Amino acid sequence: MTMKKNILCIGAGYVGGPTMAMIAHKCPKYKITVVDINPQRIAEWNSDTLPIYEPGLDELVLATRGKNLFFSADIAAGIRDNDIIFVSVNTPTKTFGAGAGMAADLQFWEATARQILQYSQSSKIVIEKSTLPVKTALTMEQILNSAHNGIFFDVLSNPEFMAEGTAIQDLENPDRILIGSRETERGLTARQVLVDIYTHWIPPEKIVTSNIWSSELSKLVANAFLAQRISSINAISALCEKAEANIGEVARAVGMDSRIGAKFLNASVGFGGSCFKKDILNLVYLCRSYGLDEVADYWEGVVKINEYQQNRFTMTMLKAMFNTLAAKKICLLGFAFKANTGDTRESPALFIARRLLEEKAEVVISDPKALQNATIDLKDVRGSIRYVEDPYEATAGCHAIAVMTEWDLYRNLDFKRIYRTMSQPAFIFDGRNILDHRRLFDIGFNVYPIGKPPLTHF
Ligand SMILES: NC(=O)c1ccc[n+]([C@@H]2O[C@H](COP(=O)([O-])OP(=O)(O)OC[C@H]3O[C@@H](n4cnc5c(N)ncnc54)[C@H](O)[C@@H]3O)[C@@H](O)[C@H]2O)c1
Repeated sequence: MTMKKNILCIGAGYVGGPTMAMIAHKCPKYKITVVDINPQRIAEWNSDTLPIYEPGLDELVLATRGKNLFFSADIAAGIRDNDIIFVSVNTPTKTFGAGAGMAADLQFWEATARQILQYSQSSKIVIEKSTLPVKTALTMEQILNSAHNGIFFDVLSNPEFMAEGTAIQDLENPDRILIGSRETERGLTARQVLVDIYTHWIPPEKIVTSNIWSSELSKLVANAFLAQRISSINAISALCEKAEANIGEVARAVGMDSRIGAKFLNASVGFGGSCFKKDILNLVYLCRSYGLDEVADYWEGVVKINEYQQNRFTMTMLKAMFNTLAAKKICLLGFAFKANTGDTRESPALFIARRLLEEKAEVVISDPKALQNATIDLKDVRGSIRYVEDPYEATAGCHAIAVMTEWDLYRNLDFKRIYRTMSQPAFIFDGRNILDHRRLFDIGFNVYPIGKPPLTHF
């Protein structure tokens, strides 16, 4: 069958893999190729064990792979053979030089632009799928159009708004698709090519077009607003603990205001994931570089409150357990940064595990999907760490449990059974407020929720 369009995606990660699988599924007449510099990642995408866990992803890949979805390590051929190129390479926080710890590290991004330039033999549309500082498209255009060889590149911005853990449903039924372009004749023609892909399954009213800088900036702002809600409720959780208010009751009362809304108001040990912190720091850096220090300070507060909340959680554990954690066994239930993913990047559990090990606690880590990543994350850390998938085995003999991830599995555990196997007095620190605290207290646990008075037997 001759394919109507050939599409390439550079970067086979959490974004590239699922988004391209969805396009392949919805556009059976398009041929989609996903390439990556990491050949092992490509081999995993071509195997029975995909490199990432995401509900519904296995089925989607199985239905399309080898038909119109292909994973390949041949980047040069990919660029040569495709005229529509999505770029979803990683854009982590810079760890060196100017802007270290704040600015986006654009080395992978620029390397990709140079590769595209090197291997292209015809004009292409290049689509920014990665999250980037505003005005990156300008740099991209300058690099790509530097050869003056009659080949022209149109750069579009199409940031991805899906969330890990619900990626497939988000991709199938997104709140909106945002496409930014130059508002020239060429830019608008390129924009229409991308609109035509999405109209295969997205209602036209959900496809929003804008100027390219608005599109780049909107993604940073969306993540900053989402993270800000978490930091706002977490900041209030600290006050609730002092004032004997209950954060659940406050969040419900506040969230019923239709101007505020109920979502993203669950107090917790803090947000994690590869995006929120990096994107806010990126926004903060941008503001500072434009001399907007007040704006930068405002958004930086969101990250500071998140660090404060994680630190506060560890201090609550230390104080509750008689000011020493040395040689105490503590089980972390969950290590992924949220439920339904194996991703542990910037997970609060990582911070808490490190802090507990500094206090010389013995840490047992349990998670249904993230133990492999946890082992990699903590490989350089000294101290006593065990990895045990079964939560009953993991908690046996422990002095305390700390719930780190809101996996459904943990809501329904037999806590009577767990209590009997633990060292007494037994403690539970519910970093996600997902357990029935009164019931746990009645079983005999000393219970420390977030933003609610603790329930203790002392
Ligand atoms: N993870 C999310 O939930 C999410 C959601 C929306 C947007 N984003 C953004 O999307 C981008 C990608 O995120 P991710 O989570 O998929 O990252 P990731 O690290 O999982 O994947 C990126 C992939 O790009 C590959 N790569 C790097 N340089 C390359 C090059 N020059 N040529 C070919 N491949 C290269 C890496 O090997 C890696 O496999 C980031 O900018 C991120 O901020 C992520």
